[in-house]
Amino acid sequence: MSSEAIAREVARRRTFAIISHPDAGKSTMTEALALHARVIGEAGAIHGKAGRKSTVSDWMEMEKARGISVSSTALQFTYGDAVINLVDTPGHADFSEDTYRVLTAVDAAVMLIDAAKGLEPQTLKLFQVCRHRGIPVITVINKWDRPGRTPLELIDEIAERIGLTPTPLFFPVGIAGDFRGLLDRREGSYVRFTRTAGGATIAPEELMSADAAQDREGDEWTAAVEESELLTEMGQDHDQELFLAGETSPMIFASAMLNFGVRQLLDTLVELAPPPAGRESVDHVTREVTDPFSAVVFKVQAGMDASHRDRLAFMRIVSGEFERGMVVTHAQTGKPFATKYAQAVFGRDRATVDTAYPGDVVGLVNAMTLAPGDTLYTDPSVEYPPIPSFAPEHFAVLRADSAGKYKQFRKGMDQLDSEGVVQVLRNDLRGDASPVLAAVGPMQFEVVTARLKAEFGVDTSVEFLGFSLARRTDEDSASELDRQRGVEVFTRSDGVRLALVSDKWRLQYIEKEHPDLTLEPLVATA
Ligand code: G4P
Repeated sequence: MSSEAIAREVARRRTFAIISHPDAGKSTMTEALALHARVIGEAGAIHGKAGRKSTVSDWMEMEKARGISVSSTALQFTYGDAVINLVDTPGHADFSEDTYRVLTAVDAAVMLIDAAKGLEPQTLKLFQVCRHRGIPVITVINKWDRPGRTPLELIDEIAERIGLTPTPLFFPVGIAGDFRGLLDRREGSYVRFTRTAGGATIAPEELMSADAAQDREGDEWTAAVEESELLTEMGQDHDQELFLAGETSPMIFASAMLNFGVRQLLDTLVELAPPPAGRESVDHVTREVTDPFSAVVFKVQAGMDASHRDRLAFMRIVSGEFERGMVVTHAQTGKPFATKYAQAVFGRDRATVDTAYPGDVVGLVNAMTLAPGDTLYTDPSVEYPPIPSFAPEHFAVLRADSAGKYKQFRKGMDQLDSEGVVQVLRNDLRGDASPVLAAVGPMQFEVVTARLKAEFGVDTSVEFLGFSLARRTDEDSASELDRQRGVEVFTRSDGVRLALVSDKWRLQYIEKEHPDLTLEPLVATA
């Protein structure tokens, strides 16, 4: 394929993830986005007209027929001429490195906020990762059909707590709980929604001028216009450069459940979110999207399918055209990797992928040698920087209940370590039989024990340790640190030395008493 043709494919792609706190409506919104796009595609519905009626059961049908699932790793759908890749972030209430890694595979994020709850802890954490990586964020205030806060309260909270300036594109008409429609702030026009029984796939919309809106909604319209003008006075109008720089965030008010604001979100993604771009290699050379094929593995998952135990590596394509069957090089080993079994993985279902382009996510089956952060390429060679690992906050010793199972235990630990399920730490004192696991969230420990039992037949027990933070250190500092109360030094499987510290006061004390010791924070560096 010519580089012009690849450039065309790239230009129509948008790859993003939804970041949110559990229960904010991520699944509902994912479903709404995919269904909206499909119905547009299938029925050729046009904006402003009532959409085809479709209910949740239609969704189930579609899930069966096409293998789409809201639990998919990467959901791809077309919307008009655009190809949208929605990369899923793990949905459980806990935190794992997986979630962070997914964010290395996207070009934009949608921050979904519950109108009644505002910013919640998990959203905050994920937002910090986006900020760190320079990922532009679109904000969606969801559940506007239910009582909640006022728009200006929510806008202020975001600006004040995380220093991100919301620039609403679509401002609600009607308070939370009385969602009538959206003021299109750039056009000055009104999009009026109609509620449908059972919830249509596409909310019927009526486009109206400001005058017609005034007649129709009266005070509600006036209030929206006044607040919108206030935002303009405060400089909170959309600015593409500031958005891409991560300083401002286009904002939309929505109800995923009623499908209100879903089209506006899709249109905003297509219009404003950046298309896939080239990436800098470890040698600081940028591989452009039209250069020969390259990809980064961002997630490895084993045992997804109970009937054939396998290991899937998900790669995000960075450059070039991917064709199934291609033999690519694994940068970390220099070995060839045959991509005969490339798949798009949707929940339990899989479809073979024949071609894919930058921004797309492809699952590689039986990828035993691939680990998160690895690079695949066709010549010329390239290697991308490793995915940073995030600061663990929970630490526990893991032991096999029966000494006779030590071999399987060791094998299982190596496997889970290589997948990045947890970080595995060891030191001479504790020995090999009781490694220390370091996790971002405690649920990762449950995953470890469950998988060791299911896949390796080993019962294990977890004993929590009284450490709450980790710092990167080095050999020179290790012995002095080990003498400190509330500190223990370990070596992580990648060779990095980590000092675990009981709490931040202890750390501050040591830093003050021993300023010469190396104690670096473990934050994302890429
Ligand atoms: P999550 O993936 O972020 O965890 O959230 P999910 O979509 O599962 O939504 C969590 C709950 O919030 C669900 O209710 C869902 O129906 C509801 N919800 C999502 N979006 C909206 C919205 O725009 N408006 C309103 N009013 N509710 C919304 P549930 O009680 O857990 O399930 P269900 O009984 O409604 O199915």
